[in-house]
Amino acid sequence: KPEAVIFDLDGVVTDTAHLHFLAWRQVAGEIGIEIDERINEQLKGISRMDSLARILRSGGAELRFDSQAKIKLAERKNALYVASLQHLDPAAILPGIAALLEELHHQHIRVGLASVSLNAPRILQALRLKGQFDFCADASQIEHSKPDPEIFLAACAGLGVEPARCIGIEDAQAGIEAINASGMLSVGVGSGLEHADLLLPTTAELNWPLLQTFWLTKHS
Ligand code: BG6
Ligand code: MG
Repeated sequence: KPEAVIFDLDGVVTDTAHLHFLAWRQVAGEIGIEIDERINEQLKGISRMDSLARILRSGGAELRFDSQAKIKLAERKNALYVASLQHLDPAAILPGIAALLEELHHQHIRVGLASVSLNAPRILQALRLKGQFDFCADASQIEHSKPDPEIFLAACAGLGVEPARCIGIEDAQAGIEAINASGMLSVGVGSGLEHADLLLPTTAELNWPLLQTFWLTKHS
C-alpha cells in the first residue's frame, strides 16, 4: 500500500474554490474587469499574487498597477475571502473525505496537505480537521505555485516519504500536473481533467478500497 496520501485543500477537502471566485470577482469588478467561472478554472491551485496577475492580464490591465497597488488589491481580495469563511464548519467537508481520512489513519497511512493557500491552517481549524493531517506543507515557504511540484515535494519531505510511494488528490489541472511532476500517483476529482492516473467524478466516490485497488494495479 502507499506510505502517504496527500490532499489538495480547496475543492478536495472543502469547496472553497467558489468563495475564492466570488472574492476575486468583486475585486476585479471594482477595477472594471469582468471575470466569469471560466477564468476561475485557471485560478485553481494558483497562488494569490499569480491569480491577480492572471486576472489583470485577462482585463488587459497588467500595466495599470504598480507592485504596491497590486499588493493592496490582493489584500482586499483576501479580506473579502476571509470574511466569507466565517460560517465554515465541519458540514462543509466534502462527501467521502472525513471517512477516508479516518480509514487512512486506521491503515497507518500518513496523511499530508499540499495547499498553496496561506489560509489553509485557518480553514482546517474551521473544519476541525487539523488533527487528521500528519503534515501540512507551509505555503508561505513555497516559491512556485502548482503546476510546479514544489508544494507536493515539501509535503512528502515533511512526512518523510518518497513521492513514488504516495498518492496525491487534486481537483485542478495545475494540481494534477504538479502531482505527476512530483513522481506521485495522481487522483483527479471532477470533470474536464486530463492526465490523472485515476479520475473520479466527485469526492463521494473516494474511499480506501478503491485507492488500494488503484495502487495495486499500478504496482503489479
Ligand atoms: C489555492 C486555490 O488553494 O490557494 C487558489 O486553489 C488560491 O484559488 C490559492 O488563489 C491561494 O489562496 P490564499 O488563501 O493564499 O489566497
Ligand atoms: Mg484545489
